[in-house]
Amino acid sequence: MHEDRLREQMSLLYLPGATQEEPVVEQDWDYATANTKTHTHGFHTYPAMMIPQVARRLIRLYARPHETLLDPFCGSGTSLVEARLAGLNAYGIDLNPLAVLLARVKTTPLPAEHLQAALSQIYERYRQFQSLPEEEKIHRTPRFFNIDYWFAPAIQRDLALLRDAILEIPHPPTREFFLVAFSHTVRECSYTRKGEFKLYRIPLEQQHNHQPDALAVFLAKAEANIVGMTQFASEVKPATWVRVFQADTRQRQPIPDESVDIVVTSPPYGDSHTTVAYGQFSRLSLQWLDLSDDEAKSIDARALGGKDTGDSKRNYQSPSLEEALSQIAPRDKRRARQVRAFYDDFALCLKEITRVCRLGARACFVVGNRTVRGVKIPTDTILVEMAQCFGWRLRDTFERRIPNKRMPLQNSPSNVPGEKGETMQGETIVVLEACR
Ligand SMILES: C[S@@+](CC[C@H](N)C(=O)[O-])C[C@H]1O[C@@H](n2cnc3c(N)ncnc32)[C@H](O)[C@@H]1O
Repeated sequence: MHEDRLREQMSLLYLPGATQEEPVVEQDWDYATANTKTHTHGFHTYPAMMIPQVARRLIRLYARPHETLLDPFCGSGTSLVEARLAGLNAYGIDLNPLAVLLARVKTTPLPAEHLQAALSQIYERYRQFQSLPEEEKIHRTPRFFNIDYWFAPAIQRDLALLRDAILEIPHPPTREFFLVAFSHTVRECSYTRKGEFKLYRIPLEQQHNHQPDALAVFLAKAEANIVGMTQFASEVKPATWVRVFQADTRQRQPIPDESVDIVVTSPPYGDSHTTVAYGQFSRLSLQWLDLSDDEAKSIDARALGGKDTGDSKRNYQSPSLEEALSQIAPRDKRRARQVRAFYDDFALCLKEITRVCRLGARACFVVGNRTVRGVKIPTDTILVEMAQCFGWRLRDTFERRIPNKRMPLQNSPSNVPGEKGETMQGETIVVLEACR
């Protein structure tokens, strides 16, 4: 390549804040080959996880140490982990109890020696429980709906003993650390097909090949998580804090007015019924962790856009949304109402986000454009138009392709077999600034 051209390209890649001696060269936002499992990021899978590198770069570009970050849809806590590593305090909100458990555990540093000692205790207790009479083991097995459909009888007993051994750990953060590895074990040992968000069972004829060793799966995951925790604990900035609320961002939260400097979040896509089912993904783990069947099953209905809000009074305007709805409605009235309900809910969240953000705060949203009944919904433009109604202005946008996000690339939105709709192949990072 010609030298001048190369120099010009390199200078475009210098980021604000980078010194001449120490340039930060970043070519795109894809991070196709990046290791996304460092620190505590690899503790547990979760649907539509954010890439840590994206959160890290947004924090570096738009925040300073000692500031306060909010992730109003924190999921498994990717941006909260990155906040603490960068010296920021952070609030996280999510209505899924599994997400809240993951976010809390991933942001709470614990010493490796302490975790190793607790793991030995869990192992010893599990071994002792194994010699209990068979009726006693059966007695300890939970009886939630469909347990026999998802777990072989022997696995049910092993998981029950493992859970009881973990629950004997007296220190709550340590107990929760191992419950995360247990939740992973539940998923691995169930008849759930791997790599899916929704609960699909492996076919009957393949089930006899599926004979996982629950203890071995748990021990391997716990050991790997201790390694990740050691890295996190050694790099976390000790004076920082994280508070995670299991709550609904549509409602007022215990966060003071104008106390947040930066928002880094990937909101739900409004398709929890069809594609990214957070609740369905979490259900088996939550049932094993003693959440009631009804609560576990209702998560997707309680997520943004989960319920048709009817003709509520709107406090926002978005010409791009109206345009998309006018195309969807003649094809499918019900789906058009669902999309509307999602944005009505999203507006309630924007109101709460605006309340807690100070003047000049930056809000970074990672959003994907989705397709409903063949109509592309321009989520990024709708977000900007809506946010303007709450006193935000557009500062930057970046595009990224999705090489490794845990997302289905195609769904069947019409539910017609063989007819695939486009879900997100790429996403947009929208950066707003509070100007009121
Ligand atoms: C795209 S995921 C976030 C993933 C996260 N960035 C991560 O890295 O794991 C969106 C999250 O929004 C949550 N959510 C949906 N509706 C919500 C609401 N009304 N209030 C709070 N959280 C909600 C879902 O439970 C889900 O965890």
